[in-house]
Amino acid sequence: MAEEQSDAFVFFGATGDLAFKQIFPALRGLVRDEGFDLPIIGVAKAGWQLEQFRTRARDSLDHYGGADPDTLRKLLGLLRYVDGDYADPATFAHLRQELGAAQRPLHYLAIPPNLFATVVEGLEASGCAANGRVVVEKPFGHDLASAVELNGILHRYFPEESIFRIDHYLGKEPVQNILYTRFSNPMFEPIWNRTYVRSIQITMAESMGVSDRGRFYDGTGAIRDVVQNHLLQVLAILTMDPPAGEHFEAMRDEKVRVLKAVRPVATGNIVRGQYAGYRSVPGVSAHSATETFVAAKLYIDTWRWAGVPIYLRAGKKMPVTATEVWVEFGRPPRETFGENVRSASSHMRMRISPDIEIGLGLRVKQPGERMVGKDVELILTRSGSTDLPPYQRLLGDALRGIGHLFAREDFVEAQWRVVAPILGAVAPLYSYDAGTWGPQEAGRLIGPDDVWLNPTLPPAASPAHDTANAR
Ligand code: BG6
Repeated sequence: MAEEQSDAFVFFGATGDLAFKQIFPALRGLVRDEGFDLPIIGVAKAGWQLEQFRTRARDSLDHYGGADPDTLRKLLGLLRYVDGDYADPATFAHLRQELGAAQRPLHYLAIPPNLFATVVEGLEASGCAANGRVVVEKPFGHDLASAVELNGILHRYFPEESIFRIDHYLGKEPVQNILYTRFSNPMFEPIWNRTYVRSIQITMAESMGVSDRGRFYDGTGAIRDVVQNHLLQVLAILTMDPPAGEHFEAMRDEKVRVLKAVRPVATGNIVRGQYAGYRSVPGVSAHSATETFVAAKLYIDTWRWAGVPIYLRAGKKMPVTATEVWVEFGRPPRETFGENVRSASSHMRMRISPDIEIGLGLRVKQPGERMVGKDVELILTRSGSTDLPPYQRLLGDALRGIGHLFAREDFVEAQWRVVAPILGAVAPLYSYDAGTWGPQEAGRLIGPDDVWLNPTLPPAASPAHDTANAR
């Protein structure tokens, strides 16, 4: 059944937050851009009728960019709604009825993981699971054991190729561009290793706090929320070997191979922070020990990466919202011109958000009699933001049964293995002020020879700009 188009789109948790923020806008894009015209069946327990559900869809679109009248009419016309308890067989009987002649539905579980088992059992018992696909959201479990258990539950009714675990970072154009740039330009491959790369940094900074997600976030924290998934996905794409052969799974096989070589992070190699004021956010415990910032140092135990420190950082209430990757190359073996230069002055910088940019940093001579240089950066590509929202891209792929932008079972389990030692209150928690780059202790993790490279906004406007004073 791989690659066969699904013939209905079902989503559980249809009156919830994720549906409002991501699913309706993604469906709008699919209807507008790709002629999507399958039945869309929302399932939830809200005591609603179809009309209220349509209103919710319209409100979501109004909130997130609007829709032209034609797209709106088509989308609202495709909506169906099933109201009921997920533990009640009648809910699934109703769903089967709404599915009509559909034989290969896609079921999106936009619900907490503790409801997965109830829902997939209901799908199976009612005949809705047969030939179906299932899409699940991150976080996939809360540790390795729970992820293994969830995989076991899904596999009872769905084969691995019918399970689509969403990590929206994989649907981001600039993340795919890291892969493309690496493997379409042969000059990078010879230097993409421990001989030339001195260190790697990945920073995911967000200026907002946890806003209205206090309860969810307090049980999750930065490591489970974005490091275990988004940042390790980016790291795998950045450090994987080139895929071998044309096999459909070749790419995901290599990603898993490198991730399995990432050493589980030692507790001494992280710094945890919490922004001042976090404990007063509604839903957050007054004594919360949850981290809203983490900096971590990792190593990959392969010949390619042995000894190269990899620094990951993620935080809320940072000075800017930006996700950026730096691959820092080392200096020449001796300073021919006797300069006192920081130990890395050439780099490849990949900005993932909010704008998209790839820059190649080098040193060139400053005009004049003396052999003195300066840092410059050549911008290889720059654009405002991506046209295709990640959820639209990913749901389109899932409907077509194309799985390579989704997290495979072995990858998710390898992700949990990497972060297993650092989950929970295993290291001191430092407070930091909103609008700063986290606790000062993070400096100790990276120093004394290196510095954190903080993303700056807005990017410089010229194609080759001087970065000497930028950071
Ligand atoms: C989500 C996290 O997965 O990613 C959020 O749960 C975070 O806490 C969000 O804000 C960031 O995504 P993006 O696409 O805005 O970088």
